Amino acid sequence: MKKNNISIKNALSVSPYTWEDSPVANPLRFDTNTLPFPPPGINIFLAEMKNMCPINEYGNPTYKELKQLLSEYEQISTDMITITNSGDEAIDILAKAFLNPGDYFVTTPPTYEMFMIQCIINNGRLREVPLNKSFKVNAKKLIWESKRERTKILFLVNPNNPTGSTIPNQQ
Ligand SMILES: Cc1ncc(COP(=O)(O)O)c(C=O)c1O
Repeated sequence: MKKNNISIKNALSVSPYTWEDSPVANPLRFDTNTLPFPPPGINIFLAEMKNMCPINEYGNPTYKELKQLLSEYEQISTDMITITNSGDEAIDILAKAFLNPGDYFVTTPPTYEMFMIQCIINNGRLREVPLNKSFKVNAKKLIWESKRERTKILFLVNPNNPTGSTIPNQQ
């Protein structure tokens, strides 16, 4: 019961993600991954879906076959792959898996807002290490924050949204 009250309070403290209305019709929305070209092979994919996709039943929830194909493509073990409905669900799962009430997560603002939303709703506490004026991460401070007690998740975005800045390998 106590945990529920904390969760409700935390959820109420978060503002929902909103779309900004545009003064013009059909604007290019770069916050929705606007790209002038369709993904390559989309027509082949859609034709195969039409003929072979059994949408009347759930698929295998372990995604065994898909994980196998992805692991061959990426040359990594299947244990390193988790299938989610978008990156946002992956962030939610990370928060649920690693954060107990009172644990901390670290972000590098300005960055993707959903880290904060998902982690606060899952009872995490925020610590911020802002990017500098050239949008570079403060690696020293991040390492220091990551070693603090109860820091459980560090979100490093490469390239970062919305700045597009990258974190060099050495850093
Ligand atoms: C850094 C970052 N992670 C995750 C996402 C979620 O992406 P999607 O839901 O398309 O997988 C976004 C979307 O903008 C993002 O910028």
